[in-house]
Amino acid sequence: MSEHVEIVIEGKTYQLPVVVGTEGEKAIDISNLRKMTGYITLDPGFVNTGSCKSAITFMDGERGILRYRGIPIEELAEHSSFREVVYLLIRGVLPTYKQVNRFSVLLNDHSLVHEDMRTFFESFPRASHPMGILSSMATTLRSFYPYLDTEEEIDITVTRLISKIRTLAAMSYKISRGHRVVYPRHDLSYCANFLNMMFDSPVRPYQIDEDVVRALNVFLILHADHEQNCSTCAVRVVGSARVNLYATISAGIAALWGPLHGGANQAVIEMLAHVTDKKATVKQLVERAKDKNDPFRLAGFGHRVYKTYDPRAKIMKKVCDNVLEKLRLHDPLLDAAKELEDIALKDDYFISHHLYPNVDFYSGIVLRAIGIPTNMFTVMFAIGRLPGWIAQWRESIEDPAWKISRPRQIYIGPTKTTYTPFEERE
Ligand code: CMC
Repeated sequence: MSEHVEIVIEGKTYQLPVVVGTEGEKAIDISNLRKMTGYITLDPGFVNTGSCKSAITFMDGERGILRYRGIPIEELAEHSSFREVVYLLIRGVLPTYKQVNRFSVLLNDHSLVHEDMRTFFESFPRASHPMGILSSMATTLRSFYPYLDTEEEIDITVTRLISKIRTLAAMSYKISRGHRVVYPRHDLSYCANFLNMMFDSPVRPYQIDEDVVRALNVFLILHADHEQNCSTCAVRVVGSARVNLYATISAGIAALWGPLHGGANQAVIEMLAHVTDKKATVKQLVERAKDKNDPFRLAGFGHRVYKTYDPRAKIMKKVCDNVLEKLRLHDPLLDAAKELEDIALKDDYFISHHLYPNVDFYSGIVLRAIGIPTNMFTVMFAIGRLPGWIAQWRESIEDPAWKISRPRQIYIGPTKTTYTPFEERE
């Protein structure tokens, strides 16, 4: 008989199958537990729950490993482009030269957004957060572009989303500043095109710098997927209701907005600015983060899965040093970040809690260096994470074991209570 575990409930023994992944990870398959025993499992935050089988991303939090479709993140960051990684995640294989060129043509063909969508942008109050705008715009795409469920239509929708998200992000930035929108150009690569749409202006034409384009490519590659994180989980759950892909992605963007998830890159910069503005010292921040009576946490530190240095943070730190050096910039926030990392990594609290810098710790400094305003940081994360969300959504709807997500709960409210009329209430 294949591997199984036994559990004893109220004196009766039940056998549950064990599922083993290709990297040796093991899970107890409890999908029939309730049917067999009447019991459910309770796992707040899904800390011990595998919600699916997936062939997209492998991560090992103890050893600091991250691979997309089996390829180590370090190799992808060094050798590939974001466009190639998008293809890899969504299609499952690295593209040939011909395939990647064809993909570029398609991305260019779908890069414009309907002119009428500009009226929505113009109606948002100036202080709106770009993540709120992006999430609304992602759903709005459904009203402008037909959505059918055939294989071919899904491919077009996917390409549209990948291409238009950067146009929408750049448009939202330009409009928020009251500037003229810059249209995408067919002669530019994915990242160069985005930078040009963000920063080109009639008074100061944007000079494309290959080092900056490379830094942006690496940033997006590092964010492209991270298996069953909060926003991906949101995408799978929302998508499980068979809602259209645009609305599904909008849910992912909303989840990513949170300061505990994608919003952490903005939170890191705000935290480090406290140091450079002399509102707090690095030591004070560390002490506050350790104080159980203070809700403050070190932004950009800690991770649900990584209990060692986040491999993405290692790469991001190098990118940060390189880009600042190449652009001949000195950012006092980087000095503060390095000092903070130094102190925290030697501190017993951080050592015993296995708290290390995560991807967000250095990414904000990279984004600042290439000119991205702080309130757009999480949008940049969303552009990067989009292929991961799409790949995970596609895998989930094609999974023969697909089911609409519908967890159970343990009810702890009042037992049956009679309705009290108004006049008898205290
Ligand atoms: N600073 C201080 N203490 C922390 C931190 C931190 N950044 N993160 C976790 N802890 C402590 C926490 O207080 C708790 O201590 P104790 O066990 O003594 O009560 C312990 O570590 C475990 O914390 P947890 O909240 O149970 O851990 P989690 O796995 O649920 O949370 C996390 C993971 C990322 C939400 C958390 O580490 C955090 O809030 N970090 C700061 C926000 C951040 O940087 N988020 C970006 C994550 S990476 C980007 C992404 O993929 O989204």
